[in-house]
Amino acid sequence: MSRHFLPPKLLLLSLCYLSSFRLYAQDTAAETGNGPYQNGMVVCATPGASKIGADILRKGGNAVDAAVAVQFALAVTHPEAGNIGGGGFMVYRSKKGKTNTLDFREKAPAAARADMYLDSAGNVIPNMSLATHQASGVPGSVDGMVRAHKKYGRLKWAELVQPAIDLARNGFTITKKLAGALNWGGPQFKKLNPGKTYFLKDTPWKEGDLLVQEDLARTLEFIRDNGRNGFYKGKVADEIIAEMQTGKGIITKKDLKNYHSVWRKAITGKYKNYKMITMPPPSSGGIALLQLLHSVEKYPLHRWGHNQDSTVQLIVEAERRVYADRSKYLGDPDFYKVPADSLLNLAYIDARMKNFSWNAATPSSSIQPGSFAGYESDQTTHYSIVDKDGNAVSITTTLNGSFGSKIIVGGAGFLLNNEMDDFSAKPGVPNMFGLIGGKANSIQPNKRMLSSMTPTIIEKDGKLFMVVGTPGGSTIITSVFQTILNVIEFDENMQQAVSDKRFHHQWLPDNVTVEKDGFSQATIDNLTKKGYKIIPGGPSGRVDAILITKDGYYGGADPRGDDTATGY
Ligand code: GLY
Repeated sequence: MSRHFLPPKLLLLSLCYLSSFRLYAQDTAAETGNGPYQNGMVVCATPGASKIGADILRKGGNAVDAAVAVQFALAVTHPEAGNIGGGGFMVYRSKKGKTNTLDFREKAPAAARADMYLDSAGNVIPNMSLATHQASGVPGSVDGMVRAHKKYGRLKWAELVQPAIDLARNGFTITKKLAGALNWGGPQFKKLNPGKTYFLKDTPWKEGDLLVQEDLARTLEFIRDNGRNGFYKGKVADEIIAEMQTGKGIITKKDLKNYHSVWRKAITGKYKNYKMITMPPPSSGGIALLQLLHSVEKYPLHRWGHNQDSTVQLIVEAERRVYADRSKYLGDPDFYKVPADSLLNLAYIDARMKNFSWNAATPSSSIQPGSFAGYESDQTTHYSIVDKDGNAVSITTTLNGSFGSKIIVGGAGFLLNNEMDDFSAKPGVPNMFGLIGGKANSIQPNKRMLSSMTPTIIEKDGKLFMVVGTPGGSTIITSVFQTILNVIEFDENMQQAVSDKRFHHQWLPDNVTVEKDGFSQATIDNLTKKGYKIIPGGPSGRVDAILITKDGYYGGADPRGDDTATGY
């Protein structure tokens, strides 16, 4: 037997080389780009937050540590949707394949009532669930981050909150898109925050301006030093209640004290040889996504191709039926018995698709929610993170509308959500996303409003394959669905799959909205002849996703926003 030894000099050189390589690997700066990266990746709505998350990974933090840092950084750099005054959902998969989800969705205050947005004639009062102090649910984001960190975090809490404090205090230069959003929100900020100057200045915002948020920095310091109690008790809680009192708001100290996020078992389902790990109710996203995927599974999408006539027709017909179910059966499972097993029964989903015809659109008026035995901006933001060990986090978080209610808590410098609009204020009357609902999603004290957020993690052959999600109100589900199909059926890389044009149908209104240049003229003509009403829509969602390959992690950051992939 021959054994090979390196001569001592060479051995020393090799060891030096190896240790300098290790040092080099540790010191490699996180960089913006689609990858592949070997050690970790963060894809989220702003370059600043993306870098903060990647820096936490480089310091030895895991995916949950990075998620906490990104959540707080987005509250500073992406005020349209990043938040501490809102809520969200997390889907988690450990490197060993263990899964979990965290529901940090807002809750209706205890004083909320089913008819709270109706006038004396029983009609919905316009805007009351959108731009008033009564529009806010009890925020869940801070409790959610504390709970996620307690269970899975590795680095110290203060270390994760500090980067956001620095950004808020020192300011950051804003992008063209943020300048446009702040100018758009200006008149409402002024109207809803009398005597306060948050987000307002004498001249219009422009790209490169510095945005400093000292009040928010102080609030984040309370959270850094006191965790949950820094927000739900003490000075910040007092400020929230004082703000409520300026506008007949109904959130009380007791509501804040009683708020708790909830661990829920992920819902899972198969699409071909892929396993979907996604969010259960009170989000409708996971159930709807699994219903959609099964509805199209047996058709040759790969052969038909992306956004071709048959592909679009099939997807629209599936969406029509799934959103009809959503309107009736989805709500907070702590208050309403959501028939998840029946909705996900494969025979049931197949039966729902049986009555569609290739010759003509099925009018939505002829589709009702299904029945089974025994049962009767759209501004949100998403981030996807994978660390060097392969732990993955998919989080979608929201204030609901762009900048939420646009009401800023006086002295505390953060925006309140207008998530109460996600409830059904009156059966059959659409909310801001045109979604309708009924009993399952009626307003009740302490109940969580139904969501469409669809943070999702996908396995292939038992291994981590993709982390995906998006904002976009009712279009969230259909955007995640199409992004998954773009990769699995149309062989697109992660960035292409995210960038590609999307379309949307949600049963009612009976329209197919499509992004600019999303369909060829021939497709529009062919489908119009069959009775589909195709209308142009604005940008649909901001998908942020990571694909895990044998070469490393590839990011897809949505060019519709300032979304950025950072890895190392
Ligand atoms: N606020 C949008 C959603 O939760 O679906």
